[in-house]
Amino acid sequence: MFNTLPLLPADPILGLSQAYAKDTNPLKVDLGVGVYKNDQGQTPIMQAVMLAEKILIDKQVTKAYTPPAGVPGANEVATQLIFGADLLSQIQSRVRSIQTPGGCGALRVAAELIQRAKKGASLWVSTPTWANHIPLLGNAGLTLKEYPYYDYKNHAIDFAAMKNTLQSVPAGDMVLLHACCHNPSGADLSKDQWNELADLFAERHLIPFIDMAYQGFGDGLQEDAYGIRLMSSRLPEVIVAVSYSKNFGLYRERAGSLSIVFADEKQADAGLSQLLSVTRALYSMPPSHGAALIDIILHSDELTKIWSDELTSMRQRIANLRSDLVRELNQLQQKQNFSFIANEKGMFSFLGLSVEQVHQLKNQYSIYMTDTSRISVAGLTANNLSYVAKAIVSVL
Ligand code: LMR
Repeated sequence: MFNTLPLLPADPILGLSQAYAKDTNPLKVDLGVGVYKNDQGQTPIMQAVMLAEKILIDKQVTKAYTPPAGVPGANEVATQLIFGADLLSQIQSRVRSIQTPGGCGALRVAAELIQRAKKGASLWVSTPTWANHIPLLGNAGLTLKEYPYYDYKNHAIDFAAMKNTLQSVPAGDMVLLHACCHNPSGADLSKDQWNELADLFAERHLIPFIDMAYQGFGDGLQEDAYGIRLMSSRLPEVIVAVSYSKNFGLYRERAGSLSIVFADEKQADAGLSQLLSVTRALYSMPPSHGAALIDIILHSDELTKIWSDELTSMRQRIANLRSDLVRELNQLQQKQNFSFIANEKGMFSFLGLSVEQVHQLKNQYSIYMTDTSRISVAGLTANNLSYVAKAIVSVL
């Protein structure tokens, strides 16, 4: 039977990590997969997570199944982190949250629920968007369409073109937005642009489907949730997929959540019952370890402070790396102005190189990034930054 299956090429993002691991060049640099690294090039376990793990070992008395929606305390604090206590007190009766296996799980479960409500529904995604959005959402059966987002020439959002397309999207269609730290471009919507979109979505009855994989990596925990909170305060239905891989450093624990704002309480109860039937048929219940840690951290003022302070220093380190890279690149050459990298947010930016230039960087310098020239800025260190800048300049 399986002889019908052809060999597939490596994943465009995860495949880079395998190629990097095999590279024997001591100068190799991994700017591929979006994983936070410190200045030693390591992805450490966050301090608050280590402390919470000790608490968990002492207090956990069973490995029996969790409820189908996951660790109850984690859903409570995660929902507050997304919507903020003030807004949540107003919309609580219409919001339902479940834990999911990472942000990927949240996206796929949401897509499966949408399929039950409206088979083959249209979801508009930004050009470009995270490569894995396409199979995660499209393979569930949603009809994916594209709206223009990043203008590669000007290294900025083409907001006029984006709005222009969204103005002609049929009522009832969904639009996938990145809450912050747009992956892959790093170009984020301003508050004014979110405000304009909220008006447009309300007028045209569009449904926002918001992916928040980097809360705390852009401008701050509250600031990064601006768009979600705005949309949720104004619109009857909002879908929010969240990953805790990056902001809690829980990558391998597959911690994520899906929150949906429904039109009313009755629909929320029906929606939750459908969500749990979707997940029962896929994996029964989500992994609990990461969620149990989030529950412990966000229920403790002391651990929350340790966690958010560390997250702040991670965010600042990435912002400093962005400025340092721009300075080096702009000092070494005048052909191209790389200043836009310092204005972009989160883990990623496009360098604006061709596939050939990207391959030259890999083959000649062992510097790894996706073929689109997306770099994960967090892979830079004080040690490798000059090497990377000189290599980039040599291929321009
Ligand atoms: C990325 O875009 O590099 C991250 O979101 C990791 C992944 O799963 O692709």
